[in-house]
Amino acid sequence: MLLDPTEDNLKHCADLLIAGEVVAVPTETVYGLAADALNEKAARKIFSVKGRPLLDPLIVHCSAFKDTLEYFESNSAILKLAEKFWPGPLTIVGYKKSSVPKIITAGQSSVAIRVPAQRTLRRLIELTGKPLAAPSANPFGYVSPTDAQHVSNTMGTKIAAIINDGRCKYGVESTIIDLRDPQKPTLLRQGPIGKDAIETVLGIAVLVETQGRPSEASQIAPGMLTKHYSPHAKVHLCKNGSMPPQNKDSLIARVFIQRPIEYTVDKNTYWFSEDGCMNEVAHNLFALLQKLDGLKYEQLHIEQPPE
Ligand code: TXA
Ligand code: MG
Repeated sequence: MLLDPTEDNLKHCADLLIAGEVVAVPTETVYGLAADALNEKAARKIFSVKGRPLLDPLIVHCSAFKDTLEYFESNSAILKLAEKFWPGPLTIVGYKKSSVPKIITAGQSSVAIRVPAQRTLRRLIELTGKPLAAPSANPFGYVSPTDAQHVSNTMGTKIAAIINDGRCKYGVESTIIDLRDPQKPTLLRQGPIGKDAIETVLGIAVLVETQGRPSEASQIAPGMLTKHYSPHAKVHLCKNGSMPPQNKDSLIARVFIQRPIEYTVDKNTYWFSEDGCMNEVAHNLFALLQKLDGLKYEQLHIEQPPE
């Protein structure tokens, strides 16, 4: 059921969450599948609705920085980044406190926490009075949802409610940084907040995780999976500037990074941005993949962004 973000509807959804139900919520990055992070049974529902392995830990969302201190051990680097980037699209990994149930962290000693900026979600967290665990609201492995209809298409019958608050501002998932060791900040997932911006605030170099973390056997970083954010159509990635010519086959689409020259455009030609602005590409990335799946294309030739 799609609900507008009125105060009454948010109160209703807060009641559902308190009762242990799963509710789909807007965030500034992508839509999330939320449940009470302190209720193990409720959190377990997230995994079953999403078809997600229990080994893949969840992000905990709080409405204020002071609340996060109940769930992880703070340090100098966490303080600096939280002050600069929260509320916003940055997820911070730190050592967990005992208040966080094991199911949230896949049994690890660390927990991932974020203070989102999206107004409706912040209000919902306040009304619920609990931190909310929320992965992106897509079936495991599929393209993330950037509007409420995307959620409804795949999750509609499985969850108690979907709060519809329009399109997500960023359109890609939050940046994740591991700050367990404040001297060794490590980027686990790229996102709206760039490495450079983080380095400027911390004043030291940020490491980039490419292999996952062998020391934490249960951790499945998105980059370790062979298939992720994957539409139903088969995707061919083409080097920047080297797309195949147009074709008459209505089952094959071409997707450019920016609007191509007029004479190469046909009805099976799409683009992520007008002028190559990467923020616009990110904003439209998942949304366009969802749309092309809806149009039943079987194959997509997708231009890779410049380096
Ligand atoms: O933008 C976002 O972050 C969205 C919205 C809903 O907030 N959420 C999201 O959640 O992207 P999800 O489940 O799709 O991605 C969470 C990822 C996990 O796959 C894992 O890689 C990482 O966060 N993660 C969670 N807990 C962790 C931990 N304790 N240590 C390391 N990584 C962790
Ligand atoms: Mg996700």
